[in-house]
Amino acid sequence: MWLLNFVVMVIASTILCLSPSFATEELVALIIGGTNTDIERYPYTVQIYRNSDFKCGGSLISHRHVLSAAHCFFKNNGIISPVHFTVRAGTSKLNTGGTEVAVYQIIVPDRYNPKISDNDLAVLVLCSKLATSASIGIVTIPRQGYEVPDNSAVTYVGWGSTSVQISQPSQILQSVTVFTVSRHVCAERYARQEVSSGRVMVVTHNMICAGLLDIGGKDACQWDSGGPLLFNNTLVGIISWGYQCAHSNFPGVATRVSSFYRWIHETMANYNADELIGVCTSQKSAAGRNPMNCRGRLYLTYLLIIYSLIFK
Ligand code: ARG
Repeated sequence: MWLLNFVVMVIASTILCLSPSFATEELVALIIGGTNTDIERYPYTVQIYRNSDFKCGGSLISHRHVLSAAHCFFKNNGIISPVHFTVRAGTSKLNTGGTEVAVYQIIVPDRYNPKISDNDLAVLVLCSKLATSASIGIVTIPRQGYEVPDNSAVTYVGWGSTSVQISQPSQILQSVTVFTVSRHVCAERYARQEVSSGRVMVVTHNMICAGLLDIGGKDACQWDSGGPLLFNNTLVGIISWGYQCAHSNFPGVATRVSSFYRWIHETMANYNADELIGVCTSQKSAAGRNPMNCRGRLYLTYLLIIYSLIFK
């Protein structure tokens, strides 16, 4: 009898652990100061995983290319191999749903400066093309040199932390609308901070600042990096850095996409994966499963086992 119980529970735990959508909504927290949103509202927004752990956001700029932040793919001043990364598109929920594809190549501009996060962008070439649908779309990028006027309403979108205290990503896609802050004012704020903290915080021409200046409370945060900053549904920024999150004195800083219009288009043309025939297919199988969710399900199963042992 005990053995039978055991066998049943092992089978149950396997099923529970492999079922994609059980027990994933433990925590609905709120990007900082934002609200839940739906992928169909921002269908080009994607999740980027490193070894199955959610790391960063990104935006689809073609059926085969994702734009994200360079710092998401760097370790010890080098680019991490693309075999460790996957992209999930077409879902509002973290770690589940939509379509997951492997990454074939990661291209970062030579000018990327990790010390001050200047030119913080990367183009990912996907192993297979993503078909567009209601929940998968392609975003437009502004022409070379375009400037968003100061004080324009812009929107951050992502699965990042919803409070400075909560150091985990959000289970549901968030969006928050803030305002662009003049580069001059933003640079001045960060220059002052640099003096007091000893950290180098330079706001260059390839950056765009956005937040609620002197108010705070709304911003992107950890795990939002790489994701979109939108102005009238065009991708004007790539979430990059900031001093803490939602601080009243310090706006969030994004990579200014219009500085790289030419580089992005050249990169997409040069890295179009035309030569790719089955190169990526062996990489993936169970990628994207969140071990925490799986662990949660396992705990539940252990409880069931104990229960069944007591009442057998
Ligand atoms: N660097 C962070 C990341 O890797 C995102 C920073 C955005 N911070 C901010 N205050 N807007 O996810």
